[in-house]
Amino acid sequence: MTDESSGESTARENTARESTVAQTRARVATHLVGRERELELTLAAVAAGRDIVLEGPPGTSKTTMLKAITEEWGIPLLFVEGNADLTPAKLVGHHNPARVLREDYSADNFVPGPLVEAMRDGGFLYIEEFNRAPEDTLNTLLTAMADRSIAIPRVGTIVAQPTFRVIASMNPYDNVGTTRLSTSVHDRLNRLSIDYQDAPSEEGIVALRTDRARAGAAEGGASVELGQRLIADAVAVTRATREHPDVRQGSSVRGAIDCVLVALQLAELRGMTAPDDPAYPELVYDAMVVSLSGRIHIDEATEITPEQVLREIWEDHFILEPAAAAPG
Ligand SMILES: Nc1ncnc2c1ncn2[C@@H]1O[C@H](COP(=O)(O)OP(=O)(O)OP(=O)(O)O)[C@@H](O)[C@H]1O
Ligand SMILES: [Mg+2]
Repeated sequence: MTDESSGESTARENTARESTVAQTRARVATHLVGRERELELTLAAVAAGRDIVLEGPPGTSKTTMLKAITEEWGIPLLFVEGNADLTPAKLVGHHNPARVLREDYSADNFVPGPLVEAMRDGGFLYIEEFNRAPEDTLNTLLTAMADRSIAIPRVGTIVAQPTFRVIASMNPYDNVGTTRLSTSVHDRLNRLSIDYQDAPSEEGIVALRTDRARAGAAEGGASVELGQRLIADAVAVTRATREHPDVRQGSSVRGAIDCVLVALQLAELRGMTAPDDPAYPELVYDAMVVSLSGRIHIDEATEITPEQVLREIWEDHFILEPAAAAPG
């Protein structure tokens, strides 16, 4: 099974080798708002032939960055979710039971799992919530990473293509169902901590991801000012969810993107075209309820509801500090 794709893989390696790391960085950067440092450090690690853990909360551009790097290199990106069900057999692959009964345990009857696929095709294996995987699965993975090959009973040894990498992700706020990674696991991994971006970058991301919707809304009568004001307000209130004392984990920029999209639809439904409309703040609150209430995780020790938290954040933003909220 290593043979069938080797011609293709060689072509890919050549493409990967032809562009220098600096060229890769420049081209990948065009897919990202900001993130120069994270991109540079991640690229340095993978270009050095190493694997890495990206540690950070959800929605902090990990997938966006890895997609852009692998597309640039012309190699596959395989996703696996780390959870208690991720057994070594799921990661490595298994023999098709029906065919084994009919025929035998041959290499042809082996159904490769994502680890073997990534090794064979020289892709990135992206394991999300790595720390939720069972210990025996982690050990299988670490062995494959160290040896760059894996021995599979009745199949043989799969040797990884040179561009094979393991990229793992971990959420530092996550403490449910996680394996406590041993120091020996940590000692085998590189790590980069990725945090939320600053407000101007998040506004840039939201503008990018809501562009078409804003253009559509403009046709429906919403002004450019309404769109701009919504982006600034949605980012500000979303960021405030991360600072609220009763919130364990706030919303990522995904909440701000949806807040703008929902608000634009509400504006159309309510015939609102400009942000100086007296009903504008309430419209933002309604959009916040839809886009943010499910994305904030309240501290277990408090009785407060997500809606109450959002109302407090809204009051701070629109009533206590209206000057800060107003543009200019
Ligand atoms: N730096 C960025 N540039 C452009 N878009 C971004 C950036 N960061 C995040 N986004 C956008 O925000 C959303 C979430 O980003 P992404 O999926 O990359 O996050 P993630 O870190 O992979 O999250 P998770 O850990 O939940 O999988 C996507 O819609 C993405 O397009
Ligand atoms: Mg992701």
